[in-house]
Amino acid sequence: MKTVLLTGGTGYIGSHTAVELINAGYKVVIVDNLTNSSIDSIEGIHKITGVRPDFVKADCSVCCEMESLFKKYNGFHSIIHFAALKAVGESVEKPLEYYHNNLSSLINLLQLMKKGGGGDLVFSSSCTVYGQPDSLPVTEKSPYKPATSPYGNTKKIAEDILRETINVNSSIKGIALRYFNPIGAHSSAEIGELPLGKPDNLIPFITQTAVGIREKLQIFGNDYDSADGTAIRDYFHVVDLAKAHVLALKRLEENRNKAGFEVFNVGTGKGVTVLEIVKAFEKVSGLKLNYEIVGRRAGDIEKVWADTTLANTELGWKTQSTLEEALLTAWNWEKKLREVKSEK
Ligand code: NAD
Ligand code: UFG
Repeated sequence: MKTVLLTGGTGYIGSHTAVELINAGYKVVIVDNLTNSSIDSIEGIHKITGVRPDFVKADCSVCCEMESLFKKYNGFHSIIHFAALKAVGESVEKPLEYYHNNLSSLINLLQLMKKGGGGDLVFSSSCTVYGQPDSLPVTEKSPYKPATSPYGNTKKIAEDILRETINVNSSIKGIALRYFNPIGAHSSAEIGELPLGKPDNLIPFITQTAVGIREKLQIFGNDYDSADGTAIRDYFHVVDLAKAHVLALKRLEENRNKAGFEVFNVGTGKGVTVLEIVKAFEKVSGLKLNYEIVGRRAGDIEKVWADTTLANTELGWKTQSTLEEALLTAWNWEKKLREVKSEK
């Protein structure tokens, strides 16, 4: 059985990927420092799959902690590197923390892979590397625009580190998946998105408003160039994203990644406005959402959606769930979470 290390694996995308990897027959080891997630994810993964992944609490940016982890498992067949700080606004306030955490973690892993004779690495990149593109949809060849935050910059620099390292270390192979906007939760509602404190992202803010934790959703700007004036993103189901990681690992194993380092956009190819998301949520939940339009959020781009041709043809990946299905799972997760919390 091939052992895959998931850094940041108790987090939102990592926990969903753990489920898909276990279902595909991999042994999963999770390392996380729990700065933005809960150990409860391990129980959720266990409930869904019947398998409890190994969990090690450690910090990927601390070299000696990663050395001990690699020693304990005698290296890994492959690594999926999710661990990162990801709040765009916070990164503007704390650039050093973001550069240190996100880049030192990647460098530590690459150094240990190199020392151990190589391996396969899948990296969590982001559509933030494109900034506000001149033309849409964006392809992997679209030029980078300046990052609008230190967080976005860590993703761009991380891709550069990967490309340059892999260029001169042929034993390491890598794929960066540039995620657009993953949403939703596992259909079992055992795992899902669990932001600590006030959510930054749209969907958890909507579900928390609907469940009564927040008074109202603030929609950031209605003076953008879109049909209803609100900003456009490419939202897709997190379980579909999890499956893209399994396909990326298979591509690396089957040695079809001749380039050594490759990047793929992962989204639906369709842009949706914030107000369209609100309407779709109201439809699936049967509730009226309390919201107000306020000014634009600093650092937000106007619109972005993906050209996913490369992922479709080379990875054999495409989204399977609809926007409504994804929103319904997010809503079911929120409701279950609050029931469980209030019982405790
Ligand atoms: P998340 O915060 O839920 O998961 C990240 C996990 O990494 C958390 O569990 C956190 O505790 C852990 N972590 C952070 N720094 C660590 C460190 N130094 N050592 C060990 N663990 C550490 O976030 P997510 O939404 O699951 O995102 C996963 C990855 O995908 C991140 O790299 C993020 O930047 C990227 N990404 C996310 C989105 C999105 O919309 N969610 C979009 C594009 C890219
Ligand atoms: N929005 C609101 N109100 C809110 C939250 C968000 O109107 O309370 C709007 C935003 O202005 C934006 C859209 O909803 O127009 C989506 O915002 P999110 O914060 O959910 O997502 P972003 O596209 O801004 O950023 C997300 C992640 C980043 C990641 C990026 C690209 O937060 O980590 O997607 O993948 F890098």
